[in-house]
Amino acid sequence: MMTADDISRYQQDGFVVIPQFLSTEQCEALKMRAEHVVEKWVVSDQAMKLAQDQSAVFTTENNDRTNNHFFLDSAENIRCFFEEGALDSEGKFVQEPEQCINKIGHALHELDPVFEAMSHDARLGVIAHQLGMAEPVIRQSMYIFKQPRIGGEIHWHQDATFFFTTPQSVVTYWFAIEDATLENGCLWVEPKGHQGPLREVFKRTGDATDMESLDRMPWPTDVGGEPMPVKAGTLICFDGLLPHYSAPNRSSRSRQAYTLHVTDNAAAYSEQNWIQTRELPLRGFNDQ
Ligand code: FE2
Repeated sequence: MMTADDISRYQQDGFVVIPQFLSTEQCEALKMRAEHVVEKWVVSDQAMKLAQDQSAVFTTENNDRTNNHFFLDSAENIRCFFEEGALDSEGKFVQEPEQCINKIGHALHELDPVFEAMSHDARLGVIAHQLGMAEPVIRQSMYIFKQPRIGGEIHWHQDATFFFTTPQSVVTYWFAIEDATLENGCLWVEPKGHQGPLREVFKRTGDATDMESLDRMPWPTDVGGEPMPVKAGTLICFDGLLPHYSAPNRSSRSRQAYTLHVTDNAAAYSEQNWIQTRELPLRGFNDQ
């Protein structure tokens, strides 16, 4: 799946870009399925109530999820989260409610048949092994909408903050479901940034969460970062220590993406990570 060049680029830069990993038909099928999940959700009585309740709003402005059961219980469920700018000052949706959803999390890979079939693609297992994983397992999935006009910024962060293993093992698979451009808020990465330390760890104790600082190394800026405009169907794989970010979407087009977070089950998975797999199967990828 990856050439020797791809693997050495990943090791050097902390990421690798694989164009045309998903076909146009696969992207369309995932997009329609995500739309279906959202449509079912926005007509539910819960949706409006929850839109007004900050617990169903996803933002990285504040990472405190203490007592936020809507969020905490989404670890092994399919739940829709709203954009921060979903409601106006009078409590009304600023655009069609379907266009106010920030993301669907966090177990589409097990609970939705369409996403389940795609997430366990044998090719992803091959890549995981090529990246040195002994026993790759999927810990989490997200469908991210990055809605037109109101798609929120995701601050610079490292995914190992949320999937702490010893040794560090988390790899992110980021699939562009639509073309990602500078205008609609494509992913930015800091090439070679994975060689730096883990700056923060997100810990859950009961219903309380805490972002603990480990290293004060400053986050990259637009200067150290590199934008990753890619076509729909592209897969970007990156190391859990690689700093990445995405700008707000002020354009008229969404920038939909699907992500999987994969850890090596041969590494110790912290009991303080907020995502714990208790009820769902903890699985990797189909055999080739
Ligand atoms: Fe991330």
